Amino acid sequence: MKLFLDTADLDQIREAVRWGIIDGVTTNPALVAKTGRESGELYAEICATVPGPVSLECVAMDVDGIVVEARRLAAIAKNAVIKVPVMREGLIAVRRLSEEGIKTNVTLVCSTMQAMLAAKQGATYVSPFVGRLDLMGQDGMESIRQMKTIFDNYGFATQILVASARHPRHVLEAALAGAHVCTIPMDVLELLYQHPMTDVGIQQFLAAWAKVPQKAGASRAA
Ligand code: G3P
Repeated sequence: MKLFLDTADLDQIREAVRWGIIDGVTTNPALVAKTGRESGELYAEICATVPGPVSLECVAMDVDGIVVEARRLAAIAKNAVIKVPVMREGLIAVRRLSEEGIKTNVTLVCSTMQAMLAAKQGATYVSPFVGRLDLMGQDGMESIRQMKTIFDNYGFATQILVASARHPRHVLEAALAGAHVCTIPMDVLELLYQHPMTDVGIQQFLAAWAKVPQKAGASRAA
């Protein structure tokens, strides 16, 4: 499963790219607003930093407006993917954009049927918001399993991009369900490799190694 970083913070993006773990980035208007930066310049810098797809979100609400904005965002970089909210105008625009060869990420998906319609319209990705669904008392991951079954049943090429992930269990369940991508904030990425028993084990082994006799002049790590 691919892992994307869900942020518009360039420092975080540079750090995750340096680790080599992330395959792409997703942004949204709220994440961009947090940076305090002008979006066009920021988007160009993010796209130049990330060796993979970068989702940039449309804020136009009518079909023609979405198409015009999407073309402008897509022209920023070859790896730009255009996020379009799942609403009637958005779904119509996605069909037009997909016919033009512009990659799309249908976002704010909160039901399996919304995802199916997006796939029928030729979306490159659908972004179900599992964390927000859980907050409403729904089972976000159940909708991922349903989408996977439906996409497999009908051979939809659309990729399931699990979004609004709040903790490592969301990432685990996304992978078990066969989602193509999970996008996560930096704090969840950090939690993926940490475990208190690993820390205890490292300290235990270092303490034991300190008692192993070393040749005179040899470094302890050699
Ligand atoms: O970027 C889309 C999505 O991942 C947002 O997540 O945490 O605002 O629900 P969140």
